[in-house]
Amino acid sequence: MVETVQWTGSGVVMIDQTKLPRVEEFVTCTTYQEVAHAIRTMVVRGAPAIGVSAAMGVALGVLKADPANLDSEFETICSTLAATRPTAVNLFWAIDRMKRLYASLQGRPIEDIRTAMVAEAQAVYREDIAINRAIGAHGAPLVPDGKTVLTHCNAGALATAGFGTALGVIRAAVEAGKKIDVFSDETRPFLQGARLTVWELQQDGIPVKLITDNMAGHFLKSGRIGCVVVGADRIARNGDVANKVGTYGVAVLAKENNVPFYVAAPISTLDLSLSSGEEIPIEERPGSEVTEVFGVPVAPAGTAVENPAFDVTPNRYVTGIITEKGVAFAPFEESLTRLAKEN
Ligand code: MRU
Repeated sequence: MVETVQWTGSGVVMIDQTKLPRVEEFVTCTTYQEVAHAIRTMVVRGAPAIGVSAAMGVALGVLKADPANLDSEFETICSTLAATRPTAVNLFWAIDRMKRLYASLQGRPIEDIRTAMVAEAQAVYREDIAINRAIGAHGAPLVPDGKTVLTHCNAGALATAGFGTALGVIRAAVEAGKKIDVFSDETRPFLQGARLTVWELQQDGIPVKLITDNMAGHFLKSGRIGCVVVGADRIARNGDVANKVGTYGVAVLAKENNVPFYVAAPISTLDLSLSSGEEIPIEERPGSEVTEVFGVPVAPAGTAVENPAFDVTPNRYVTGIITEKGVAFAPFEESLTRLAKEN
């Protein structure tokens, strides 16, 4: 399976997701600023992968920081990484985890601090893969055999340290012997579905067909789709889900056609501090992502654009939220809070 992000000992290597599937090119970040740039420009993307990269970015920053100014440099490292993308809460979760460890190491020799920070970043990476496997194990029984699964965006190995959340559920269902195929929404404007999900599933030999975003309603009405599975960037306490823009429309169409709509995400994607999805900050990305496709204009020069990268699906459209600790069903405030507290 593809290596999305990896620690080398003195840097972070990422597959460049802006170039897939045309070329498989790897980017090596040797400073935390380069990691921040890679997150901002979506060389690496997907909530869990952003979290893992940020943890590695913090470790890298500490490794290269001047020991004489460590505390102030640490603050700058964390704030630079935190300013990259606002919606995926895994970014802030990972930085907070690194901050808590750093605080616990106060007064220790610099070499101990460096070793511990690197070990923590590697633990975030390893745990993410195990979490995705567990999400897959909980989600696979929900996938109807012999049907098509619809997904939006890329919530696969490329969006995580490995295996994936939504695609983890699909992979686990296939591993369990279910005969399923996948419809991948192309996911304009960044085309994560067309470029990344299709590429990833093809590598695994899982049958996948690409559809444009505006075809989802047609197929959800056809009776061919057994369920929808998507990932999430942030889930509020009441079960409202922020995910790639377009997810909301798919969820409404799924409910209209009695097709179960599942969200697969680690507990680190829950933001229990937010009472509803209304409070989730939605990233606005450059208009050129909408007016151009691979640098080629598809709209008249000077076209005004809005480009929210995410939307919020209200909890009433969500059949279940598949986490590594089990599946949460409505009422979500109760089920999510309980799962989050479980060891
Ligand atoms: O803008 P992106 O590509 O980072 O958005 C990614 C998504 O919306 C994914 O569906 C989400 O992060 C879940 S990834 C397991």
